[in-house]
Amino acid sequence: MGYDARFRVWRGDAEGGALQDFTVEVNEGEVVLDIIHRLQATQAPDLAVRWNCKAGKCGSCSAEVNGRPRLMCMTRMSTFDPDEVVTVTPMRTFPVVRDLVTDVSFNYEKAREIPSFAPPADLKPGEYRMKQQDVARSQEFRKCIECFLCQDTCHVVRDHEDNKNAFAGPRYLMRIAELEMHPLDAADRREMAQEEFGLGYCNITKCCTEVCPEHIKITDNALIPLKERVVDRKYDPIVWLGNKLFRR
Ligand code: SF4
Ligand code: SF4
Ligand code: FES
Repeated sequence: MGYDARFRVWRGDAEGGALQDFTVEVNEGEVVLDIIHRLQATQAPDLAVRWNCKAGKCGSCSAEVNGRPRLMCMTRMSTFDPDEVVTVTPMRTFPVVRDLVTDVSFNYEKAREIPSFAPPADLKPGEYRMKQQDVARSQEFRKCIECFLCQDTCHVVRDHEDNKNAFAGPRYLMRIAELEMHPLDAADRREMAQEEFGLGYCNITKCCTEVCPEHIKITDNALIPLKERVVDRKYDPIVWLGNKLFRR
């Protein structure tokens, strides 16, 4: 059965903005993105919102619903009390372009900085062989839809713009972990993870894992194993001695 909901939506641009109140019809089975589309159709034709699939797969409709990073197309209106005010704001970690649309280019810049897969030079593509369990490990990370909700929620950059240079965020530390654990990747990515991409800033709070719509265990399966590898490299006495001798 339909009802009228109270919505509070952030409107503005890089110069500033404010929350604007709306009363808007909600029908059975609808999600937050449906309501935003109804607002565009009936009350706010210039409301900016990014979306594509409405199926939780393109990663475009990321925003914050009642302060929690969510995909708007996967957030059912039935999860809210009809009397509740539903507040929709843009992702806080990224600069606002307009209304609910943010500039997520930080993520693409970090992605470009990661050296790509580096198989052994003497191995031809048709000769790549790996165990199924190694394939399965990569496949979990490959479910990522690049919604950047994990990047948005991570406290290292959420309220600390100055950390962005030194910290790649969970999505890209996960990419480094994927490559570091890949049996055919010949590069040693442990030092770069720590020194260039800021793995040490992560204190494994698991907030990134909690908001991932693909339910990827970012912290347990990527960040913690990567930290363990970094520690192994740093405190292994043979590696330590080798580094000392090599540097001389
Ligand atoms: S576990 Fe690490 S990367 Fe994930 S939100 Fe916490 S600090 Fe950020
Ligand atoms: S790891 Fe999960 S939360 Fe992060 S960008 Fe990928 S799908 Fe989104
Ligand atoms: S519109 Fe594609 S994930 Fe929401």
